[in-house]
Amino acid sequence: MMPHADSAQGSSLVLGIETSCDETAVAVVERRADGQGRILSNVVLSQFDKHAIYGGVVPEIAARAHTDCLDRLVQVALAEAKIGFSDLSGIAAASGPGLIGGLIVGATTGKALALATGKPFLAINHLEAHALTVGLTDGVRPPYLMLLVSGGHTQLLLVEDVGRYRRLATTIDDALGEAYDKTAKLLGLPMPGGPSVEKAALSGNPKRFDLPRPMAGREDPHFSFAGLKTAVRHAAAKIAPLSATDVADLCASFQAAVCESVADRVRRAMRVALSSLPEDRRKPFVVAGGVAANKVLRAALVGVSEDFGFTFHAPPLGLCTDNGAMIAWAGAERLALGLADGLQAPVRPRWPLDPDAVKATGAGVKA
Ligand code: KG4
Ligand code: ZN
Repeated sequence: MMPHADSAQGSSLVLGIETSCDETAVAVVERRADGQGRILSNVVLSQFDKHAIYGGVVPEIAARAHTDCLDRLVQVALAEAKIGFSDLSGIAAASGPGLIGGLIVGATTGKALALATGKPFLAINHLEAHALTVGLTDGVRPPYLMLLVSGGHTQLLLVEDVGRYRRLATTIDDALGEAYDKTAKLLGLPMPGGPSVEKAALSGNPKRFDLPRPMAGREDPHFSFAGLKTAVRHAAAKIAPLSATDVADLCASFQAAVCESVADRVRRAMRVALSSLPEDRRKPFVVAGGVAANKVLRAALVGVSEDFGFTFHAPPLGLCTDNGAMIAWAGAERLALGLADGLQAPVRPRWPLDPDAVKATGAGVKA
């Protein structure tokens, strides 16, 4: 990490590149000297159709698809923002965690642009980008308590400052987005699973199936979703073949169990966080990551926040799932601190936000 004095004050324009999974995304974001942000362009090209027949993301196909369209998307993002390379203050690219092939494509492109234009390069942690998005969209600044729920991660974090994170909890098995995706696959719903399950659940009966509320009541705030997913499989097997009503009821019952389990875990974390956040103002609670786009979960978390005196914040739905604006914004925040990375910055398929986090204990611990 290198200090970069030129960009440490004033407003900045940063180009952000996101290629860590199956979305190729590029954006230009402005950060004013007062810390307020504005999106000038935000282009997202999803690869869903390329992976659909395989029932999941194929890393090699993802990397190739990023290569095919990234330079065009950079041009579109600059054109939509009505700026040229010379107007940029820095170039940010997601450099982990994620699929290594895609990360290499995005980070190498970012470095090449930085080298050719003489602008600083910023190697961005994708999780940090999710964690800081509310600074761009709602002007919420650390410290805050945050629930990060995506396809690969489920964590409760104390966001103490930009670059300073304390992990309070993680999942001991599946991530929440992964549980949604696997449940969708099991029920024959299209990918991405989260939105499919949410849609099917709209017409379903959440009380029809008595599913477990994983970890509810447990002292620590960790998560677990593998058992819930298996319970859905057993419930489905018992009544197969499934009608559309059965699928809707299973989705609604699954989602109700998810919401109760997550709400219970967040309550635990709020108790812990109360003593760690400043006394002099209402404490912000933030939810971000792809699953934060789920309206039922958001509603449940609004309720929990009210109960505990936290203010609730979440990015708009389109900025919960992966996008370039969050990468550009994390880059702008780092640049404002005078930080930049050299062209030798590695890509990191695993890149924890809190390297000192105590390992969670449990049956199928992954994180
Ligand atoms: O943050 P994200 O776009 O990518 C990762 O960093 O993983 O999150 C993707 C995950 C997927 O598992 C997807 O099914 C889930 O977020 N997701 C949702 C919804 N929209 C996306 N899960 C539940 N409800 C949704 N509306
Ligand atoms: Zn993500």
